[in-house]
Amino acid sequence: MSVNLAVIGTGVVGAAFLNQLAGLKSAIQYNVILIARSKKSVISADYSPIDLSNWKSVTESASQDNLSTDELVAFLKKSPAPVILVDNTSDAQIADSYQKLVANGISIATPNKKAFSSSLDSWKQLFDASSQKGSGLVYHEATVGAGLPIIGTLNDMISTGDEVEKIEGIFSGTLSYIFNEYCAKDAKFSEIVSIAKQLGYTEPDPRDDLNGLDVARKVTILARLSGASVESPTSFPVQSLVPKALESVESASEFMEKLPNHDDELQALKDEAAAENKVLRFVGKVDLPNNVVSVGVEKYDVSHPFASLKGSDNVISIKTKRYQNPLIVQGAGAGADVTAAGVLADTIKIAQRLV
Ligand SMILES: NC(=O)c1ccc[n+]([C@@H]2O[C@H](COP(=O)([O-])OP(=O)(O)OC[C@H]3O[C@@H](n4cnc5c(N)ncnc54)[C@H](OP(=O)(O)O)[C@@H]3O)[C@@H](O)[C@H]2O)c1
Repeated sequence: MSVNLAVIGTGVVGAAFLNQLAGLKSAIQYNVILIARSKKSVISADYSPIDLSNWKSVTESASQDNLSTDELVAFLKKSPAPVILVDNTSDAQIADSYQKLVANGISIATPNKKAFSSSLDSWKQLFDASSQKGSGLVYHEATVGAGLPIIGTLNDMISTGDEVEKIEGIFSGTLSYIFNEYCAKDAKFSEIVSIAKQLGYTEPDPRDDLNGLDVARKVTILARLSGASVESPTSFPVQSLVPKALESVESASEFMEKLPNHDDELQALKDEAAAENKVLRFVGKVDLPNNVVSVGVEKYDVSHPFASLKGSDNVISIKTKRYQNPLIVQGAGAGADVTAAGVLADTIKIAQRLV
């Protein structure tokens, strides 16, 4: 029993994925037949397995240009064993190719949010294509909460007849850290953002975390899985923590330099929350009966599970017809090993259905 894998991306998650795969003990044999980085690929033209004990050096010295989507589909379609494409990039073009891959019988395992949080039409087309006989399967657990069991849990609930009523959660490790620290300490917002940046918790330009779009993408995915027809991550209210005046400043360093001028804006809310024995958290919410989706800062009583969050953990609360007392999942929502494990678990689930 064997499955062939095409692994795209060898960055933080991709490298951890390949290392975990190299050490995997399984009755199913996983043969990697292609490893791609942004420009060059290693391709096993005869579908023999690439030796994973030295994948890094082999990939770094790769000389073959990346295949176009059509070439990739043609190569993978001729594979003598079932194929899973593992997309460990955040690339929109690769995400756009899923539909074609799936229609040609190639399955997808990925932490890349792009295909699931763009237009509702492309979401529908992808899952319609995947439901056809002979099509590839699509698993994307690590697109929300990294390796935390969120998407699989939601899918199991829904497929067994449960109905989601409300989802509420802290979905960004970076914003989790920033608000946990901000409300626990007597510190300015800009000081905490600066520490988070120094610790490597933020994107190189912290505006990419503070604008809320990453959280909006995750909330879009959860809302759609729960049955809400969310058009796009910009089709509902998303609170950006980037002050208007700093949206268009050129560099991340200029942004960081000017952020202290805007500390008063959140400080007033922090003081108001503290006076009510509450803390601030940056949350995403889906209210199914009322068809309301939102992302932004909310106040939580200090006794609420979200208030006791530590470090950069994620937490999600799912209230359903069966779970009136909400189901809560909490833990690391980012990081190489947990994310890669989420992708590898999906790869294994697909393989078990294919062989
Ligand atoms: N890091 C986390 O904790 C985390 C958590 C949850 C989800 N995710 C998701 O996991 C994915 C990967 O994240 P990461 O942190 O591993 O990113 P990363 O370190 O930036 O790595 C991205 C990798 O993708 C490759 N790549 C980019 N465009 C490509 C293309 N067109 N064709 C082939 N390869 C391409 C890059 O190639 P080069 O090596 O040539 O640059 C690099 O190896 C993203 O979708 C991210 O949102 C990450």
